[in-house]
Amino acid sequence: MAKKLFVKTYGCQMNVYDSARMADVMAPHGYEPIDTVEGADLVILNTCHIREKATEKVYSELGRLRQNKDQAAREGRRMLIGVAGCVAQAEGDEIVRRAPMVDLVFGPQTYHRLPEMVVRALDRTGGRGAGVVDTDFPAEDKFDFLPEESAERGASAFLSIQEGCDKFCTFCVVPYTRGAEFSRPARAVLDEARRMIANGASEITLLGQNVNAYHGAGLDDRDWGLGRLIRHLAELPGLERIRYTTSHPRDMDADLIAAHGEVPALMPFLHLPVQSGSDRVLEAMNRKHSADDFRRIVDRLRAVRPDLALSSDFIVGFPGEGDAEFVETLRLIREVTFAQAYSFKYSARPGTPAASVEDQIPDQVKSDRLQALQQILNAQQVAFNRSKIGSVQPVLFDRKSHKPGQLIGRGPWMQSVHAEAPERLLGHLIDVRIEDGHANSLSGTVLRHDPDASEIRQTGLPPSVTHPLPPAAE
Ligand code: 5AD
Ligand code: SF4
Repeated sequence: MAKKLFVKTYGCQMNVYDSARMADVMAPHGYEPIDTVEGADLVILNTCHIREKATEKVYSELGRLRQNKDQAAREGRRMLIGVAGCVAQAEGDEIVRRAPMVDLVFGPQTYHRLPEMVVRALDRTGGRGAGVVDTDFPAEDKFDFLPEESAERGASAFLSIQEGCDKFCTFCVVPYTRGAEFSRPARAVLDEARRMIANGASEITLLGQNVNAYHGAGLDDRDWGLGRLIRHLAELPGLERIRYTTSHPRDMDADLIAAHGEVPALMPFLHLPVQSGSDRVLEAMNRKHSADDFRRIVDRLRAVRPDLALSSDFIVGFPGEGDAEFVETLRLIREVTFAQAYSFKYSARPGTPAASVEDQIPDQVKSDRLQALQQILNAQQVAFNRSKIGSVQPVLFDRKSHKPGQLIGRGPWMQSVHAEAPERLLGHLIDVRIEDGHANSLSGTVLRHDPDASEIRQTGLPPSVTHPLPPAAE
């Protein structure tokens, strides 16, 4: 009988991608993915270490898993528990010491060795003896060892093209947990993209901790930047949409900016973290750009792609941040305007330079600042969503709503769009007339809904040139 694998993912999209690859690695060994802990033979928590809260969640989840493991033992089954990802990388043996029922601990660079680790962990008779810990940064490239065949099927796919970070922002653990920057060769990326398209993907999101620092070997053996890679990807038949995340302002080079104006498949939505609007804070963060540099980059992007919408990350209460500096951040937000954003209270991470600075900000001040900042960002998000009312957008339906008869998909600007639609439209790009804009989503009416009809368009047209088709027979 097939064994069951349950992977719970925390944190960023890189982890979502890694979790899917873990399932791929285990598939040839008879492990089938399931989406509950109950009945699982192997449970993996793919963890995030970016803020303290994310790390704490892992230990409380392990507490709950202990009961599942005991229950499985009472039923005469063996349930292995693995901790993967950045907490595993950062805390290693410490996890097994704190939570001895953990059988495996492995980092983001070693999960291609998972089958071998599982065999070793199963050898721990009765769960006794030390757990298997593998948090190396191995010399081999894990991508060379991952199976080409993926169980992932979906209209919207993630493709990891770059990992790690050499930038050492003073608040961030990523350079320590994910290691030095590394870019996959363009050939490997293009091959994986072709396989994803063959499996039904029409949208690919390129992933990397610093995705626009991409500098992989090109087809001509020269280093290619992200702009060049995107132009080549855009030529793959069947690929309608390209996105990339997450970027650093320092790596928005001229070619990548130009690509936003020249490649129609490159979607008009960009996540570009700025963290702060104060030059002094940006310098203390080691971001190596000023607030005006960021403004200029946005101006250049909007000059070539006027409908470009921005998302960003902000940290409030970085050590030494005064009221005046916080106000600079609010000013930048008002000037640039964001369609969407993530904002966080600064969280001191052990081992990072900012954690040992004396001038830490009291939690109450951080909370007040976060609230003020989010008020503006939320208002901007609602205004952006409402600005789309009356437009027609191509929506890539990729999931069912909990409301019967409704599907949910994404428009070009990453907004979730809800519409009444038959299930057979899942996986298709369909024109939707937007009728309402809410805090976190849009709703509208499907204009064309015959996925077999040649008229299904892949890009938005003004409402005047779209003609609703009669519904196709179910
Ligand atoms: N405290 C708060 N937020 C952080 N981030 C990264 N490290 C920290 C930290 N120590 C945020 C940054 C980054 C996002 C992924 O998480 O805004 O862009
Ligand atoms: Fe962390 Fe800065 Fe690297 Fe982003 S660029 S991963 S915030 S160190």
